Amino acid sequence: MADSVGLGIIGCGQISSHHIRNSQDDPRVRWVAACDIRRAAVEERAAQFDIPGRYTAVADLLADPAVDAVIVATGPEAHLEPTVAAFEAGKHVLVEKPVAIDSAQVEQMLAAQGDLTGACCSSRFRSTPGAHAATEVLASGRLGSIRRLIASSLRPPPANYDGTSPFFLHRPGWGGQGALADWGVYDLDYLLGLTGWTLEPQSICAAMSGVPQVYRQIAGPVNDVEVAVTAQVSFSGDAALDYHRDMFAAVDEPREAWRIECEHGALDLQMLTATPQVILRSFSASGIASEIVVEEAYEWPVIHRGPVIDFVDAIVDGRQPMTSLDNALVVQRVVDGIYRAAAEDSPASCR
Ligand SMILES: NC(=O)c1ccc[n+]([C@@H]2O[C@H](COP(=O)([O-])OP(=O)(O)OC[C@H]3O[C@@H](n4cnc5c(N)ncnc54)[C@H](O)[C@@H]3O)[C@@H](O)[C@H]2O)c1
Repeated sequence: MADSVGLGIIGCGQISSHHIRNSQDDPRVRWVAACDIRRAAVEERAAQFDIPGRYTAVADLLADPAVDAVIVATGPEAHLEPTVAAFEAGKHVLVEKPVAIDSAQVEQMLAAQGDLTGACCSSRFRSTPGAHAATEVLASGRLGSIRRLIASSLRPPPANYDGTSPFFLHRPGWGGQGALADWGVYDLDYLLGLTGWTLEPQSICAAMSGVPQVYRQIAGPVNDVEVAVTAQVSFSGDAALDYHRDMFAAVDEPREAWRIECEHGALDLQMLTATPQVILRSFSASGIASEIVVEEAYEWPVIHRGPVIDFVDAIVDGRQPMTSLDNALVVQRVVDGIYRAAAEDSPASCR
């Protein structure tokens, strides 16, 4: 493999500019092509970043020999076809989150992948200094085996709520593409990724709810997705996940609590804070010893740059990306299981 990668973007909407702007100064990155079914969108994005290849058909971008790899940045309902087509054309693929609509689609992507690199942007929040520090502590083994993952994110409703969906994944009539598919994939990727993708989900109990009563009349029929999710996931061995995300919680300020509990102690984490603090708490005979492992501010573009640079490095260095498509399948199986368990009101299997 050459020491730089010719990248093409498929889907020139909102997120595409973040991908390109925040990675274009990396010596291994060459932005060579852009594609959107909307001609105006391709022209605008390509002109903005001086990208030579401009296409309105995915097949034409994939036939461009300057393209080594693509980022699929279409809406989630349109991730499958370009991803499979790109693998079939011999291109590496980084897929936006959520990787797909369901795990059957991810399995189709994997069946087409062969020896190429496949990755997913749900890794975004593992690009921060706090996430790197937590990964190192957990990989060092000093905390022993994992017992419990805890994630609770309570966020206030949008100020002056006007009835538009806070989830850009939301499509009227889909049902079930709200807080879980939009934010839950980040939460799950964060915890399962920090713990080295070692945990194997087994079964799930879950419940979810829509906007609180007071907002229903404002929300109208467009907001038929979940805004709050509670789930418990058991993993093979003794570990379990205790999960709660509420995007319309009765709180003044966001309340976030992230914790990984292990045999010899625990890590307290923050996924979304600008200056995330990672605190290591260890059991000792004289009590709990607490140590701040890292407290370092990050700039928001880091989370957009991270997955792209990681993808390119994975291709050039021949290693696995932060979140491979195999890892994304695990996340998607948990998401599918949570939707199923909540809909059927009974435990669901993750397999
Ligand atoms: N907008 C954000 O802030 C944000 C943040 C993180 C992740 N994402 C993820 O990025 C993805 C895209 O989101 P977005 O907000 O940029 O959406 P968007 O609707 O702004 O852009 C999607 C673009 O894809 C194009 N498109 C659709 N089908 C296509 C096809 N077959 N071939 C080529 N182009 C096609 C559309 O014309 C549109 O321009 C989603 O998976 C979303 O979850 C978005």
